[in-house]
Amino acid sequence: LRQRALSELATREGKEALNEWRVQFLGKKGELTAILRGMGQLSPEERPVIGQFVNEVRSQLEEAFAEKENLVKKEERERKLREQAVDVTLPGRKLPFGHEHPLMRTIREMEDIFIGLGFEIAEGPVVELDYYNFEALNLPKNHPARDMQDTFYVTDEILLRTHTSPVQVRTMEKKKGDVPLRIVCPGRVFRRDDDDATHSHEFTQLEGLVVDRNIRMSDLKGILLAFAKQMFGQDREIRLRPSYFPFTEPSAEVDLSCGSCGGSGCRVCKHTGWIEILGAGMVHPRVLEMAGYDPEIYRGFAFGMGIERIAMMKYGVDDIRQFYVNDVRFIHQFKTWS
Ligand code: PHE
Repeated sequence: LRQRALSELATREGKEALNEWRVQFLGKKGELTAILRGMGQLSPEERPVIGQFVNEVRSQLEEAFAEKENLVKKEERERKLREQAVDVTLPGRKLPFGHEHPLMRTIREMEDIFIGLGFEIAEGPVVELDYYNFEALNLPKNHPARDMQDTFYVTDEILLRTHTSPVQVRTMEKKKGDVPLRIVCPGRVFRRDDDDATHSHEFTQLEGLVVDRNIRMSDLKGILLAFAKQMFGQDREIRLRPSYFPFTEPSAEVDLSCGSCGGSGCRVCKHTGWIEILGAGMVHPRVLEMAGYDPEIYRGFAFGMGIERIAMMKYGVDDIRQFYVNDVRFIHQFKTWS
């Protein structure tokens, strides 16, 4: 029995088979117990001898069983570990990740350039007083130039700002005659326009203002040229054309040389070699005075440009409405990572 039990134990694999073996040899109805039960038929002399022998066999079998059980458990554990193993070299799952809107990206790029040129960022309200949007900019009521910017009025005195120029006045008032003053202000503006590929009733401007002693038109040109080259490339040039704004004198419209045609003419610049990008000029003495700066001592220059227009030129966007409809097929082209 011992031989048979031990050799059979060696062939058993797995928990189930092991348990069956225990029932068969060591269980209450097992073979060893059956032998012990049969002891009654033995003579009193034989009983202790056989009994001791049977107990020896039992403890041998139990020992062998415990050993085998340990082995099986260990194998089981190792198998589980193998099955559940994590491959740490597998690439991770990609998370959907947001990124800057092309308009915000353009604003940030423009701000970065002007910060590098010593400017600070300023802000002002979108819902503005008629006073700041027009009057303090030398556009009194009934001034014909008010028609240049068809206005959304909230009340007689309150409107949606038609340009970021009111921030010029608000910043000068805050600075209380302090110089130097160098700010740029990005922000939303509104005009009663019919929307099409190049017009939107709501768009974004970047305003610039510098006030100090001895500011000259050449400072304006130098700053704008530096901006144009950093924004569009070192090969670009700018050109100033005389113009009119009630809040600057003299005033200019500024063109950027067309990069894509190299001066020989193309659709972007309509074969002129130049594209208009902004309005600018020397701050009108009356505007300085109304905002608390003595025009006999201080002078300034200001400029304002449409940010969508800059973004369209820089990134080759042909419809301004693309910036507002939030079509991800458009927006995701401005990912700067992959
Ligand atoms: N505010 C003007 C516009 O919206 C642009 C401008 C700004 C012109 C500052 C001159 C100086 O068209």
